[in-house]
Amino acid sequence: MKPALIVHGGAWDIPDEAVDSCKSGCQRALAAGWSILSKGGHALDAIEAAVVVLEDDPVFDAGYGSHLTLEGRVECDVIVMNGATLRAGAASTLHRVKNPIRVARAILERCPHMMLVGEGAERFAKERGIALCNPGDLISEAERDAWRKCKEDKHAAEHHRGHEQGTVGAVAIDREGNLFAATSTGGTCCKLPGRVGDSPLIGCGCYADSEAGGVSCTGYGEAIMKIIMAKTAVDFLRRPEVCMNTPSGVSCGGPSAQLAAREAVHLLGKRTHATGGLILLDREGNPGFSFNTPRMAYGYVALDGNFVTSV
Ligand code: GLY
Repeated sequence: MKPALIVHGGAWDIPDEAVDSCKSGCQRALAAGWSILSKGGHALDAIEAAVVVLEDDPVFDAGYGSHLTLEGRVECDVIVMNGATLRAGAASTLHRVKNPIRVARAILERCPHMMLVGEGAERFAKERGIALCNPGDLISEAERDAWRKCKEDKHAAEHHRGHEQGTVGAVAIDREGNLFAATSTGGTCCKLPGRVGDSPLIGCGCYADSEAGGVSCTGYGEAIMKIIMAKTAVDFLRRPEVCMNTPSGVSCGGPSAQLAAREAVHLLGKRTHATGGLILLDREGNPGFSFNTPRMAYGYVALDGNFVTSV
């Protein structure tokens, strides 16, 4: 089948001055993933490559440049999920890993469990050959500055380029039809140490089922968890009623993917009054995206192979 790839750099109040960096970050993530998929490579390799680019970019809240906890350190959450097996690899509260997606992949492929946290996750990573860094290596000057101001001035939004959102994610399907979804985040600014958001939780920040599609979410984690947003969006992809004017058993094409994305984000607003967004691919590779924030950074590979990015 035709490969497909969609990425995001978070749904938030992205200021004008960060728009170009967010767009170019998504563009580079697409290039990294597509260079693998377009040559017949595996969706898991593509998704890892795309997310590494996003984690390394300090404009996004993942890996280097993540928001800091109340105590001033980075604690990252991450997940990757295989749509064929429904198996996930997830890790939480990582503070010594440059690219959390690599730990998620190691857990997915080489761990009897599906989720590890903190010290245990980092020990597992080290034993599988993933180098640990100094906690300070993940802290950008901009985030340290935002953290200082938030501590002094009650967490004012204007101190942040991204305030609470800037999670990254990707969904990919390769030529063989393998479907994977991933989400990686530094979580919310000045969160309590040990706080776990939606991102690493299967069904909340990410879900993939080859029978329906794959989703990666962004936004206020405590709200996304309430509606299990990623699984909810995947279930919307299964519903025949989203395939308006389409006989049952016939693919609905792109608009149904878009409708499922919109319905899930609508539900987030309606039932939790919170903000966020998501990207998805349905099982045919049609992209969908939606957000109720002022902006979301995202990009996908169009049918003609061109990269479409938007903020
Ligand atoms: N959605 C990211 C977080 O709340 O941690």
